Amino acid sequence: MTEQSKVKVGIVGCGVVATAYYLPCLMEMETVEITAVCDLYKARTEACVRLFGAKEEYLDYYEMLEKADIDAVMILTAPGTHVPFTLAAVEKGKHILLQKPMATTMEEAHQIADAVREASVKAIIEPSSSSALDPDMKQIRSLVKQGVLGDVMWFSLGWTGPTKYGPELSMNPYGQAAFYNEDSGGFLFDLPYAPANVVGVLGSCASVMAHTATYVKDHKIVAEEKYDEYLKNVTDPHDANYWDVVLDMPRTVPVKMEAVDNAYSLYVMADGSQGACHIGRIYHPTLPGVGGGSLQVFGTEGNLIFGGGYYASIVSSRKDLLPEVSDDGWYHIPQRGDVSKAKFPKPTPGAFNYYHESSKHWIDCILNDKEPVVGLEWGLHITEMMYGALESSRTGKRYEMTTRLPESM
Ligand SMILES: NC(=O)c1ccc[n+]([C@@H]2O[C@H](COP(=O)([O-])OP(=O)(O)OC[C@H]3O[C@@H](n4cnc5c(N)ncnc54)[C@H](O)[C@@H]3O)[C@@H](O)[C@H]2O)c1
Repeated sequence: MTEQSKVKVGIVGCGVVATAYYLPCLMEMETVEITAVCDLYKARTEACVRLFGAKEEYLDYYEMLEKADIDAVMILTAPGTHVPFTLAAVEKGKHILLQKPMATTMEEAHQIADAVREASVKAIIEPSSSSALDPDMKQIRSLVKQGVLGDVMWFSLGWTGPTKYGPELSMNPYGQAAFYNEDSGGFLFDLPYAPANVVGVLGSCASVMAHTATYVKDHKIVAEEKYDEYLKNVTDPHDANYWDVVLDMPRTVPVKMEAVDNAYSLYVMADGSQGACHIGRIYHPTLPGVGGGSLQVFGTEGNLIFGGGYYASIVSSRKDLLPEVSDDGWYHIPQRGDVSKAKFPKPTPGAFNYYHESSKHWIDCILNDKEPVVGLEWGLHITEMMYGALESSRTGKRYEMTTRLPESM
């Protein structure tokens, strides 16, 4: 691997994240060859060959693993496939980038971790949002560690998905990745962004108590083939974002919600702070500036607030730790990129794009034998924060976390 300048990548799952985010990034990287793509639908693999220059296409994942000359696999399929697909790739010595969720049980998450360690391959476990790959998060975590908030007391976070669309529009409107199946972990496991945000700021979690529920059982989603029709008409590989159109398409296919669509988790962190974290979709708009419930952290020396027109802001009596203080008394970290052009959930141009940064980090780790920042420990810990919530809700008891983030985080 060290002798070679290009990593040969295979992609399984040519769905929305592949075409909107990962493939446009990979095709620009001189250190990457998009060797093979695989999907159940030929229209999707064909589109990836045409748009992103993939060399080979497969309709069967195990055939791709067997026949394609690849060093690494990006697993971008629906949740139920993540564990078997990852284990099969790692068994063959392939590096992996695994989209969320890593797994829905700790047994399976540990199976992945053991296999990756045994094979000595590089594993990125998404999402890398709120990780140290984001320079703003890295700075915030460093300030918190230095004591800018003093002793952190409590925090709150709500994660509802987009609120600016109308009724029924705040959930994934299409496809198999929609987290409706009983074993998918539901919307709780669709949104690891919330626990990632909490640990990205506060470090490891110690325990969780939770209540979960399912409120809305009948949904309608956009027909699967609409994505293929969309792809046929895409000509610019850097503008293949299905989200731009799918949110406005008619929903015609009924689907039953068999999993959790609502979870309240009370986390106690290793630093002694406690906080409530809410996951739940909403079905009608809120007023501008009210919805969402971004992370807010309150300490003996200061407060940290995400949102409010900024990426995040800190007010602190430890002014010596703040890089600068505005006239209003806060240190504001600006929202990067052109926010006026943002259309959920496309990353704003110029802002931190976690899919792109993960891809670059993954290739760097493979070529230069580095340990991924968003690797096994990150994946195991975030998975356990969600798994522990489901377990606590099921048993009615507090769930004690068994994993921790590395000291450096
Ligand atoms: N949609 C988003 O914005 C988004 C954001 C972040 C993460 N994710 C994650 O990315 C992953 C994919 O999500 P998506 O939104 O791109 O979904 P999607 O439904 O658009 O794409 C998934 C693709 O995987 C293919 N697939 C399913 N089973 C397969 C199999 N056995 N063999 C080969 N291909 C198979 C499907 O045909 C589909 O094309 C999920 O794990 C999801 O959690 C999605």
